[in-house]
Amino acid sequence: ATDDRIARIASTIRVIPDFPKPGILFQDITTLLLDPKAFKDTIDLFVERYKDKNINVIAGIEARGFIFGPPIALAIGAKFVPMRKPKKLPGEVISEEYSLEYGTDIMEMHVGAVQPGENAVIVDDLIATGGTLNAAISLLGLNLNAGRVGVTVVECACVIELKELKGREKLGDNPLFVLVSET
Ligand code: PRP
Repeated sequence: ATDDRIARIASTIRVIPDFPKPGILFQDITTLLLDPKAFKDTIDLFVERYKDKNINVIAGIEARGFIFGPPIALAIGAKFVPMRKPKKLPGEVISEEYSLEYGTDIMEMHVGAVQPGENAVIVDDLIATGGTLNAAISLLGLNLNAGRVGVTVVECACVIELKELKGREKLGDNPLFVLVSET
């Protein structure tokens, strides 16, 4: 059953206090990856949700969206588009600046990777404040007057949500699907 699968997935995620900084409880998905059944269940739950939904694009966010995104893309017959940290992609890029706890960061995507009218799901391991997913939505989304392509972002999909940080609210009307909610 779905609940048994979710419980197993949740139990494999290791929580490490004070990483990378004092006061942060880091949710470590590398231990989920060590459990082949939990890893497969994670991918299967997303595939069951997105197959037969006319999804053309799985957009994976560096770094851990690159672990969960590609197997979902292969299983549903979608392309995989990497959303990367700055200066990593070799071709022409569009960029989006977004705020972190201290300062800002930039996310980049190759021009031409997606086409108008395509349907995208954005995949990452975790949503905290929501700033990262929001930047990805802006890069893919309907901001045509900024020269952007106008892909429909159907949903954001994460393994883990840190509820207290209220990242879901930052996404506005964009739906968020998560497997494990940490309070
Ligand atoms: C983590 C996580 C998400 C992001 C979520 O990445 O994998 O991508 O933070 O945070 P937010 O919702 O507050 O924006 P991290 O910053 O650890 O980068 P990394 O994946 O490159 O290690």
